[in-house]
Amino acid sequence: MKVCFITSECAPFVKTGGLADVSGSLPEALTSNGVNVKVFLPLYDVVDTKKFGIVKLVDFPPAFVEIGDEKREFCIHSYKKNENLEFHFVDCPYYFGRGIVYTNDKDENERFIMFQHAVLKSLQYLQWQPDILHCNDWQSSYIPAMLKLQYSWDKLFENSKTILSIHNIGYQGIFEPDTVRKAGFGDSCFVLGGPFEFNGNANFLKTGIFYSDVVSTVSPKYAEEITTSEFGSGLDGVLRARKDNIRGILNGIDTIEWNPLTDKLIPKNYSYKNPEDKKYNKEKLLQKAGFDDETDIPLYGIVTRLAWQKGIELIIELCEKTKSENFRLIVLGSGEKEYEEKLTALSIENPGKIKVFLGYNNEFAHLITAGSDFFFMPSRYEPCGLNQMYSLNYGTVPIVREVGGLADTVTDISNEKEGNGITFRDFVYEEFEQAFHRSRKLFEDTKQMEKVIQRGMKNDFSWEKSAGEYLRLYESLKQN
Ligand code: ADP
Ligand code: GLC
Repeated sequence: MKVCFITSECAPFVKTGGLADVSGSLPEALTSNGVNVKVFLPLYDVVDTKKFGIVKLVDFPPAFVEIGDEKREFCIHSYKKNENLEFHFVDCPYYFGRGIVYTNDKDENERFIMFQHAVLKSLQYLQWQPDILHCNDWQSSYIPAMLKLQYSWDKLFENSKTILSIHNIGYQGIFEPDTVRKAGFGDSCFVLGGPFEFNGNANFLKTGIFYSDVVSTVSPKYAEEITTSEFGSGLDGVLRARKDNIRGILNGIDTIEWNPLTDKLIPKNYSYKNPEDKKYNKEKLLQKAGFDDETDIPLYGIVTRLAWQKGIELIIELCEKTKSENFRLIVLGSGEKEYEEKLTALSIENPGKIKVFLGYNNEFAHLITAGSDFFFMPSRYEPCGLNQMYSLNYGTVPIVREVGGLADTVTDISNEKEGNGITFRDFVYEEFEQAFHRSRKLFEDTKQMEKVIQRGMKNDFSWEKSAGEYLRLYESLKQN
């Protein structure tokens, strides 16, 4: 089985969120099932080629992609991890030399049109015949249509099937109609209500949903949710039309990088057998954050993109309304300016209680996950969410809204046998505050808290099961 996995970010090379974690760990898990995988991503200038030993394919001939009336040159750089896993980077400095991964530049559409054509042209050059092209999010969701409408002449792709994995339907790649022409589709493709048109614009994701052989998403619950108007971000109708071809497969986690027993980035390793060693990490975290090292006060952590999706308003309101309560909060995140400013203001007003760190810091993310008592994820929606799984395995009790992957992985402590976290249903402040108060009570009840922690630490979120599900899906597609 040969799989071409196409993604706009991939750990450890380049990461802005969970898509990178998945792209870095799912292909590897697939190789353990005997799959041969090539991962394609753009060579952003932020990728440290020296550090990772990524080298230019020397015999790759001058290659071009036509974007509308322009011609852009590209070449390929590669890194071979093992016989079954190779990473290919599309190098086009004109588009990917901008110091960041995603931009608000007006040619953002062109950047990923180039990327997708470059992937298909590279496969042609390498004469590598994929059984499956596994696309991820809008940045690679024109590929199924490109294959059917532009590359079908090439026997190389004759038997190739496509999967589109939706990691977040909130990001669809909506651009001006001319995008469709620039991508090389005929003018006649842009028809009102058709696969390429969405409210008068082009929409990469909609096109992908229409043309891919199967649509998958990253948790079973989110697979149901996105077919409703509440969670479908306007594409629920398109998804309902394909409901027999939508799968929800829960993400796994990298259980080497995110494992309290082997984690190289935390001060002291521990497991469910000696969770008391977690306290040492709490002390170090308190110190690093600039608190005194009083460990009896409950410590709440957050590591997140500061985006509307993540429900930051609830955190802000909680900080404002619980000023007299004795707890501590450490926030690590970056994103929307308004959230950054409000959180910073709260930390300045409450220096003994709230610490806010703006920016991206993987090592600190590991320390917060290991050293906190509780981890907040009050998301408006959450396709899967990885941080709640990391927290569970690190004995840090998650407090989450019952949506998407959060609902699929966290069971409320009202379930006396299986409870591993605290959940609330509706996105209203009162429910969130109640969840917070329940966590305070749990913290006081040390015996109960220990039980809840142990359950979370024993949860198995490794890729084994989910990679097997993807493999079965690939196999069923291959047979059709
Ligand atoms: P999303 O992809 O929506 O951002 P996930 O929970 O799937 O949410 O994944 C987020 C990933 O990004 C996790 O690995 C998390 O630790 C990491 N992350 C998010 N923000 C930061 C940050 N500021 N510093 C370090 N890591 C971060
Ligand atoms: C998205 C989602 C997140 C998910 C990640 C990886 O960024 O917001 O919930 O875990 O993709 O699939």
